[in-house]
Amino acid sequence: MTVVKMNFPLLQLENVGRDFVLSAGIWSGKSSILRAVHQESLTLQRGEILGIVGESGCGKSTLASLVTGVREPSRGRIFFDGQDITHLKSSARRASRRRIQIVFQNPASALNPRMRILTQVKEGLIVHGIGDPAGRENLAREALLKVGLADEMVMRYPHQLSGGQQQRAAIARAIVTSPELIVLDEAVSALDVSVKAQVINLLKHLKRSMGLSYLFISHDLAVVRQLCDRVAVMLGGRIVELAPADELFREPRHPFTRTLIEAIPHPDPDVPFAPLPPVIDRKLSAERCPFADRCTYMEEVCAGAAPLLSSIDATHQIGCHIDPFAPSLERAAL
Ligand SMILES: Nc1ncnc2c1ncn2[C@@H]1O[C@H](COP(=O)(O)OP(=O)(O)OP(=O)(O)O)[C@@H](O)[C@H]1O
Ligand SMILES: [Mg+2]
Repeated sequence: MTVVKMNFPLLQLENVGRDFVLSAGIWSGKSSILRAVHQESLTLQRGEILGIVGESGCGKSTLASLVTGVREPSRGRIFFDGQDITHLKSSARRASRRRIQIVFQNPASALNPRMRILTQVKEGLIVHGIGDPAGRENLAREALLKVGLADEMVMRYPHQLSGGQQQRAAIARAIVTSPELIVLDEAVSALDVSVKAQVINLLKHLKRSMGLSYLFISHDLAVVRQLCDRVAVMLGGRIVELAPADELFREPRHPFTRTLIEAIPHPDPDVPFAPLPPVIDRKLSAERCPFADRCTYMEEVCAGAAPLLSSIDATHQIGCHIDPFAPSLERAAL
């Protein structure tokens, strides 16, 4: 009998959204709903680094919390390696967390200040019931060695390490369970330039040697461009553009992506940059294009309904009613 192995994407989000109920205070009795993530679909292939970028508050960390099972989605379904992980019971949830790990921006708050680094890395194995005490010691030391922490360093407490070393320890804690996907939520954003480059190289090396995939959330577009295979641009809880990284940065098609890229400060002070116009009201964006209030190309249709993400070629999608940078339109304008 021939066994046919299905090639599922490693991660697949189908119309996934998450709402938060905002109370106006216990005395008012009023509340409103904030759609932190609307109804988004996304796939991540095994071995891929998928970047998520967007301005502060656009829903990146909420999306990360849905993927890692920290929060449950309000709608939609999440598949990991073909298995529905949307609403798992606690033991199945724990098993899925072994395969999907997360690293946050601030290692100092992610690490336990009262535990030695080696003990914290071993903790991850205990939680997931991996190995016996001797085996766990070896696995933890091995993971720490992979991130460049060895010997007496592993017996230190977090405050006895530099920021870069702390982030290496947090990465060791993530890789010790041999995950397949790591969600990196601004994981290199707080590091200074030289350490950032080292940690990025470490992430590249671990990806190759351990066959990892990353969901890489960052506001640092230069790093995203360098590291990611594809990039999703989020705005007001929606994905508004999705494309291979080089194409997205070379030819951004959504007006918001253009604005985001133009807002990167240039090292030469004489090169002007245009800071992003501020969000007017996050709730206003619920049923209209989330960029409508700030977009130079806005037309009536943009205030009527949020555009759906649609393909402009085999690998590039945008959600824009106007698509002002479509090559045909640009030619017509000449
Ligand atoms: N627990 C919560 N309760 C209510 N609203 C929340 C909660 N967590 C997040 N939000 C809101 O959801 C929206 C998305 O937040 P999120 O943290 O996902 O943004 P982000 O893109 O990660 O921003 P940043 O780049 O600043 O980290 C924001 O408007 C935020 O205020
Ligand atoms: Mg965040």
